[in-house]
Amino acid sequence: MFSLTGKHAVVTGGGSGIGRAIALLFARQGAILHLLELSAEAGQAVAAEIAQAGGLAHVHAADVSQQAAVVAAFQAIGRVDILVNNAGIAHVGTVETTSEADFERVYQVNVKGAYNCLFAAVPLMKAQGGGAIINMASIAAHVGLTDRFAYSMSKGAIFAMTLSVARDYLAAGIRCNSISPARVHTPFVDGFIAKNYAGREDEIFAKLSASQPIGRMGQPDEVAALALFLCSDQAGFITGCDYPLDGGFIKLNT
Ligand SMILES: NC(=O)c1ccc[n+]([C@@H]2O[C@H](COP(=O)([O-])OP(=O)(O)OC[C@H]3O[C@@H](n4cnc5c(N)ncnc54)[C@H](O)[C@@H]3O)[C@@H](O)[C@H]2O)c1
Repeated sequence: MFSLTGKHAVVTGGGSGIGRAIALLFARQGAILHLLELSAEAGQAVAAEIAQAGGLAHVHAADVSQQAAVVAAFQAIGRVDILVNNAGIAHVGTVETTSEADFERVYQVNVKGAYNCLFAAVPLMKAQGGGAIINMASIAAHVGLTDRFAYSMSKGAIFAMTLSVARDYLAAGIRCNSISPARVHTPFVDGFIAKNYAGREDEIFAKLSASQPIGRMGQPDEVAALALFLCSDQAGFITGCDYPLDGGFIKLNT
């Protein structure tokens, strides 16, 4: 069950947090990993962990928002059985406190970055006769969160792109699903708390933990386990679906 032996898997933002956990698990299940990372150093560190565990990983240093660089990276990779569109950045603000530059930056990485990778990967998957795609959305795509205007915009777009791609490529054998985590404890969360709530780190960490009815944040490995299932042949009947991984955030926050 859940073997990825011989499959080529591209994980964007695979150098940290959720992407790192997905890359490590997919490699353990036999996939050949391609880490598309802004930080070559972070990518190399994860590739070294994979190699140490007996797996295979390649690092492609690229900014997902730059289409020419993304297309070149996918051409170099050549075969793509699995794409995990995971690279993303955070932003805190209402519509009034979100500047044009903030909005543009979140759009470029979270929305255009995912589009660029889909644009580059889908033709390769089509030519091969199929593939599996996971887009990392968020609960922000489904509920109104305080102070997450630009971020919610970006994750709503991820959710809609998932449906569109799933619909357009049914006949091509390409499955496309999304995962919508609530708070997962990663460097993304630590960095976001440090940047936006300096001096109140412990208070905000406790508050973010308690906002999941289950009483804690998720773990990157828990997201990786769901991603593995969705990318495996055992999930061959699943496409166009979003999976909340949220400790009850969406349905049980009463
Ligand atoms: N951590 C959470 O609570 C949480 C919750 C819901 C959704 N998500 C989503 O999960 C994804 C991963 O989050 P994380 O917490 O693991 O983040 P993280 O900050 O720990 O890791 C993100 C990785 O993406 C890379 N990256 C950033 N911009 C890039 C770019 N332009 N091109 C290529 N690589 C780039 C970074 O170098 C980093 O290695 C994001 O899309 C995020 O929105 C996270």
